[in-house]
Amino acid sequence: MYARPLFVVVGIFRAFSSEAGSGSDPAAATDLPTPGRHQVDFATFSVSGHLVPEARLGMSGGCGYTLAIMNAVIKPGPETPSQAGLPELSVVVPTFNERDNVTVLYRRLEATLSGIAWEVVFVDDNSPDGTWEVVRGLARKDSRVRCVRRIGRRGLSGACIEGILASSGPYAAVIDADLQHDETQLPKMVALLRSGEAELVVGSRYIEGGSADSFNKQRAGASQLATEVARRVLKVEVADPMSGFFMIRRDRFEQLAPQLSTQGFKILLDVIATAQGKLRAVEIPYTFGSRQHGESKLDSMVALDFLGLVLAKLTHDVVSLRFLLFAMVGGTGLVVHLVTLFIALEIFKEPFAEAQAAGALVAMTSNFILNNFLTYRDQRLKGFAILRGLLLFYLVCGVGLLANVGVAFAVFDQEPIWWLAGLAGALMGVVWNYAMSGLFVWRKR
Ligand code: GDD
Ligand code: MN
Repeated sequence: MYARPLFVVVGIFRAFSSEAGSGSDPAAATDLPTPGRHQVDFATFSVSGHLVPEARLGMSGGCGYTLAIMNAVIKPGPETPSQAGLPELSVVVPTFNERDNVTVLYRRLEATLSGIAWEVVFVDDNSPDGTWEVVRGLARKDSRVRCVRRIGRRGLSGACIEGILASSGPYAAVIDADLQHDETQLPKMVALLRSGEAELVVGSRYIEGGSADSFNKQRAGASQLATEVARRVLKVEVADPMSGFFMIRRDRFEQLAPQLSTQGFKILLDVIATAQGKLRAVEIPYTFGSRQHGESKLDSMVALDFLGLVLAKLTHDVVSLRFLLFAMVGGTGLVVHLVTLFIALEIFKEPFAEAQAAGALVAMTSNFILNNFLTYRDQRLKGFAILRGLLLFYLVCGVGLLANVGVAFAVFDQEPIWWLAGLAGALMGVVWNYAMSGLFVWRKR
């Protein structure tokens, strides 16, 4: 009941005491909100009709103004949002099985960001170790902490994108939960964005002053090879585009977000490649530390993710790695089919029809297993779901075969060129199988 008068008084106080943002603030220059910068604008009031005619109210001078402000405060329009305590920096932390790391990271953020209005969004893919429970516990004690718990999904890039889009600070940072990134660099990164010197700040291991000594030889080699490929093929200028540690202006990120891939690990590379040189980037060195608890989720399969991203960016998103993998698996299926057919005919002396059916069944099964481990490894079916998925896959491929033969016949009817008809049929089959498998077998929840 006292809330409204109190709100009015606070509003009047803020109206007369708020300060304008500093002239060099890039956020101010581009209409990005900065906490504490907003002013009550008398001109806006009169234009938008908030200024009450004093004669009608029978009040004099100053009182009229006061009432006008009260009116505006009681009915806050879009021009007068309450900005008290709004974060300037949103820190996004992707997590998967990081139970023992998140509290330490939170404390470190609290210590290092004491001069900045910040918030942290943990995006957890329903970690079996219950990381999200620990984060919820932190969030219950500190409203700057939030937890997005994603169910039925995996993927570092997707998690980062969702975290950034679920927050609103004018600057967004991405940092790993496992304390391998150096969070004490964050204030420096904010300063670079604030000054307008950069739109993207990259924590870099590969410029002077930075290092990745904690990498083993194999990992260091792979990382450097990928960096070289990215720099040459995608014309990326940054020294460490594989870094998982960066900060970006929200407005720039929101522009790029619809074109970013949610699959894979390489969100920074994706951001830089998608911006096509139109993002002012500055790198600052840091030392990639070693993991304290838990283990790395990067396996040798990330090489595939990397290839997929390079391919997608090179072809302007026409070719997706998933489709390519699916088609390649289909190619191996053909070999498996022929080998099985040969064995059934020559060794088991089966009649052709049975041998051919056996070939198809074995090929479909091996395709299913390969797709489950490669093409859809982020949505891998496990346990009982494997059997259900396999039966559905047989069904999808069965219908795909009908579509294949149907199209081949139709083409052959028009143009009796055997390889053209065969190719058209095979293409129809693989596109059908791909589309339907994605819908029914490895469907997103
Ligand atoms: N939500 C979510 N979903 N988080 C994930 C997933 C996932 O599928 N996979 C990994 N993470 C989280 C981890 O919990 C960790 O906080 C962070 O992402 C990095 O994962 P690590 O498994 O620790 O990766 P890394 O240390 O081997 O690799 C790091 O360094 C690379 C540079 O070589 C990452 O920062 C990479 O992004 C970076 O490219
Ligand atoms: Mn790590």
